[in-house]
Amino acid sequence: MGKRRILITGSLGQIGTELALYFKKIYGASNILATDISDKNVDALEDIKYEPLDVTDGKRIHELVTNYKIDTIVNLAAILSATGEKIPQKTWEINMGGLVNVLDVALQEKCTVFTPSSIAAFGESTPKDNTPQVTIQRPNTMYGVTKVAGENLCDYYNLRFGLDTRGVRYPGIISYKTLPGGGTTDYAVHIYFEALRNKKYKSFIAEGTKMDMMYMPDALKAVVDLIEADPSKLKNRNAFNITAMSFAPEDLEVAIKKHIPEFVLEYEVDPERQAIADSWPNSLDDSAAREEWGWSPDYDIDAMTEDMLKNIKI
Ligand code: NAD
Ligand code: SER
Repeated sequence: MGKRRILITGSLGQIGTELALYFKKIYGASNILATDISDKNVDALEDIKYEPLDVTDGKRIHELVTNYKIDTIVNLAAILSATGEKIPQKTWEINMGGLVNVLDVALQEKCTVFTPSSIAAFGESTPKDNTPQVTIQRPNTMYGVTKVAGENLCDYYNLRFGLDTRGVRYPGIISYKTLPGGGTTDYAVHIYFEALRNKKYKSFIAEGTKMDMMYMPDALKAVVDLIEADPSKLKNRNAFNITAMSFAPEDLEVAIKKHIPEFVLEYEVDPERQAIADSWPNSLDDSAAREEWGWSPDYDIDAMTEDMLKNIKI
């Protein structure tokens, strides 16, 4: 594995808290700088260095990148889909403003940039099943708009300026250490906590709504596999479709019942989040990621369910 000095933005969120520790195992704690706008759960970072950073402040990003001799920026700071619909303008400011700042600093200081996109970059006119790598992208959330624009901007900085930009389109990420931060796929995390606490859960997503999902260990592995991939093999570079499984709430119910037979799933559908879910794909075609950098997930729905139920502390 190559040597790197990595700055993570939004590192105290669902993915960042775990990614920082995963990076620590690979690159060493002294080579990781974790940052976020709020230090809410900074203890999760253990001995990793933490600095406050608002990504809309480009000067501060530059200061940290030069002070800490950073060569790789992993930009996780974002407002997610459901929260984004409550504050669309602010979502644009943070998701796009932050990304522009990161790309400009990276260009000046010759850093590699990893930025995740999302299944939210697709919309109702996108083919729903086996959604291709390159296809129609007309999302109807502000979050999705920022993700499509971000994908294009990262491609532009690579093609126009030669900046080393890389990224994946994450599906819904499921994990037990840090709760998700206001997305549409969050039900697939909450269901496990409620199954253990109360043996029942009311899903805000309707029966039959399939979405792509992934267990956190696969999401972490994807970042390192892609930033370490041989650039000459990357035809797409940014926004690779990746997925590990596609399921609807009732499929999780079946998987959970194998461990908790008395578990009951009910529905109390939230029309706003349901409309977002309905506009996203049922299942992604991730063959480009498999071919170009060897993407292959380790967890399916049953392996993930077993691990989630074993590890959640209530
Ligand atoms: P999260 O909401 O859990 O964490 C985001 C973090 O960004 C938070 O800790 C928040 O404090 C921080 N933040 C917000 N505004 C900021 C600002 N102005 N400056 C600096 N930090 C700020 O999100 P996550 O689930 O960890 O997602 C990380 C990335 O992965 C995002 O780009 C998201 O779009 C993408 N993604 C996540 C999922 C998922 O299911 N979790 C799926 C697809 C894509
Ligand atoms: N999990 C994310 C969301 O629901 C997908 O990007 O917003």
